[in-house]
Amino acid sequence: MDGEDVVIDPWGSAQSTDYSRIIDQFGLSSMDNMTLPSPSRLHRRGIVFAHRDLERVLDAQKQGDSFGVLTGLMPSGQMHMGHSMVIDQVKWFQELGGDVTIAVADLESQATRGVSLEKGRKIALEEYISHYAALGIDPEKTNVYFQSSRPIVQRLGFQLGKRTNLNEFESIYGFNGATNLAHVQAPMVQVGDILHPQTEEYGGLRPIVVPVGVDQDPHLRLTRGLAAKTNWFNVNDGKSSGVVIGLSVQEDNAEVLGQMPNGRLDKDRLNAVFAGMVSSLEHLGFSDILSNPKQGTITVPSATAKDKSRIQIKLLEYERSLGGMGLLAPSSTYHHFAVGLTGDKMSSSKPKTTIFLRDDLPTVEKKIKRAFSGGQTTVEEHRRIGGNPDIDVAYRYMMYFFEDDDSYLAEINADYRAGKILAGEMKQLCIDRASIWLGDLHEMRDQTAHLVKDFLASDAQ
Ligand code: TRP
Repeated sequence: MDGEDVVIDPWGSAQSTDYSRIIDQFGLSSMDNMTLPSPSRLHRRGIVFAHRDLERVLDAQKQGDSFGVLTGLMPSGQMHMGHSMVIDQVKWFQELGGDVTIAVADLESQATRGVSLEKGRKIALEEYISHYAALGIDPEKTNVYFQSSRPIVQRLGFQLGKRTNLNEFESIYGFNGATNLAHVQAPMVQVGDILHPQTEEYGGLRPIVVPVGVDQDPHLRLTRGLAAKTNWFNVNDGKSSGVVIGLSVQEDNAEVLGQMPNGRLDKDRLNAVFAGMVSSLEHLGFSDILSNPKQGTITVPSATAKDKSRIQIKLLEYERSLGGMGLLAPSSTYHHFAVGLTGDKMSSSKPKTTIFLRDDLPTVEKKIKRAFSGGQTTVEEHRRIGGNPDIDVAYRYMMYFFEDDDSYLAEINADYRAGKILAGEMKQLCIDRASIWLGDLHEMRDQTAHLVKDFLASDAQ
């Protein structure tokens, strides 16, 4: 399939694992060379492999400025190990100081899986939020809401619908004339999920990061594109260095930006807007601001890539003061998918491919014993050639989920390759650790059950 495009369908069953191709094709940034404060297991092991604009979030964190984390859950079926990866990241961002918002995608679940809103609520609380509590998400710093009962989410989705069309949906999602309209609306609601935490009512303008599996990237591309289209001020890199800021005159801001309905230019108005932009930039400490209202641009030759993000935020603030939406494109991080127990895709609809967080220990033991192995067919051969931990599910699950100690992991990796550890032994190591991990989780779930209601935002009670 060389040269063919990777197609990512958030509702489909196909799953590409050609991650470097995904990075190239979708313009993600690699996590290599990123320095993170107290990197988690998923970061240290390269499992979180890509991002968009994560610098912006890390920058805010470093400066002690606020930032938000948003994730969503689809209330259908049982929560499994794969789902826990996003929660690990949410927890990491929360510990760094991010405020957390969790969308229960009850509208999406109803539209795409036929789950009633009532059932969706029950599943969300009993199956997902109770596990989030057990996994250590702090209810004091988390707000859970339902798509169906937060009007601003739906309103944003509707308003931004004006900035896209069916052609774009066809190219992003592969929709066609036969696509159910609920399926068209679901991504627009998700756009509302992702953007609403930065509205005044829900925390105000600040960077928002959305940790997801790559299957959700189409929604992020859509959201980022829509946010950018609403922006009144475009901040671009200068030709050789610095940044250049231009106006984006649109139907709903033309008058404020000095374009009179009769086609004339209201120069005073335009100059006032430029003065406002300049004053925003001066607040950031720049002294080489070249303002050229006639040409419609402002240039800041000394601004660096890092400054660009601060300039964007400052100008969004200014845009808001003039009556614009002032939407900042969300940041995102992407993790590799954990392989299914069978060696294929992990899927909640195929219990044999995954470990559910409610599985009892004998079930887990049985599942791991049957898992796809990277060992050789006979013990002799295994001792001679060694096993392959890269495809060994028991090893991978320790790496992804159950083993915290990097040096121990490196040791068993080497010993497996050298044939010193047999496939059955690797499975037993995994079973031992999985039993401890899940045993602890189940105990925590009982202990934190009373906290579930504390996660709910006031519109979710
Ligand atoms: N579409 C997501 C899923 O299928 C759920 C979801 C809804 C979501 N809104 C979100 C995920 C916002 C991340 C951010 O699981």
